[in-house]
Amino acid sequence: MDAVIEMKNVYFQAQAQEIIHDFSFQFEKGKTIALAGPSGSGKSTILKLAAGILVPTSGDVFFQGCNISNMNRKQNLSFRKQAAMVFQDSALWANQSLHQILELPLKLHFPKMDMQERDERIHAILAQVGYKKRLDLRPAQLSMGEQKLIAFARAMLCGPVILFLDEWTESLDDSSSECLMNLVRERRLNNDTIIFVGHNFKVIKRLADYIVMIVNGRLNRLFTREQIAQDKNMAQHIEKGMAL
Ligand SMILES: Nc1ncnc2c1ncn2[C@@H]1O[C@H](COP(=O)(O)OP(=O)(O)OP(=O)(O)O)[C@@H](O)[C@H]1O
Ligand SMILES: [Mg+2]
Repeated sequence: MDAVIEMKNVYFQAQAQEIIHDFSFQFEKGKTIALAGPSGSGKSTILKLAAGILVPTSGDVFFQGCNISNMNRKQNLSFRKQAAMVFQDSALWANQSLHQILELPLKLHFPKMDMQERDERIHAILAQVGYKKRLDLRPAQLSMGEQKLIAFARAMLCGPVILFLDEWTESLDDSSSECLMNLVRERRLNNDTIIFVGHNFKVIKRLADYIVMIVNGRLNRLFTREQIAQDKNMAQHIEKGMAL
């Protein structure tokens, strides 16, 4: 199997509490994997560990065979350019305008890109996600749903090949979530790797090749696309955040 991200015996503790317990999984290139499970079971933590945003207490996370914790600056920058994250709380900088927030990853990863090209790219992405308001606003002036659209646009800006998406359709109306789902579907057809957290069974059923069920910080069960389609109780279980 061609694993893009591999987590090996990963443990994570915070404030003397074990949050993730011996989690191992190979995220295969070109596949879409949904992390599901009850609230507080550790889904966001696993996503952040897989994305190298949190460092395991023990165990390892590899990107294309290279340990994320041991990457040098150049390797790390290359990984950051190829991977992008939408955080559960959107995580937009409170003291920056939307334009500054969107400009930063382009300045970092495409230092030779001029201002006009940056602006064109920002406007093109915003049109794709359906954000139509001004860009001189600060995040606090947006609704939660609008913040999600900006966070999603920021994630797509540098053309990532791995997407980490945490509750990315929450707080969105049907047409916006449909729009983002279509963008993710395009990435999927492009053979990109997508790892997402969500409770919305419609989204999972349409996009996921696998569901990884997380309970109490552990991998509880793994379901394939065929099992997802056949199991009549799965929708209820996923949406209620119950273990199967
Ligand atoms: N830095 C931290 N310090 C202490 N506890 C933490 C920390 N980060 C996470 N936790 C705890 O770890 C558990 C898992 O958190 P996590 O955010 O990963 O859950 P989740 O499955 O994403 O939940 P939700 O569905 O509500 O988003 C929670 O009980 C949370 O309180
Ligand atoms: Mg979460």
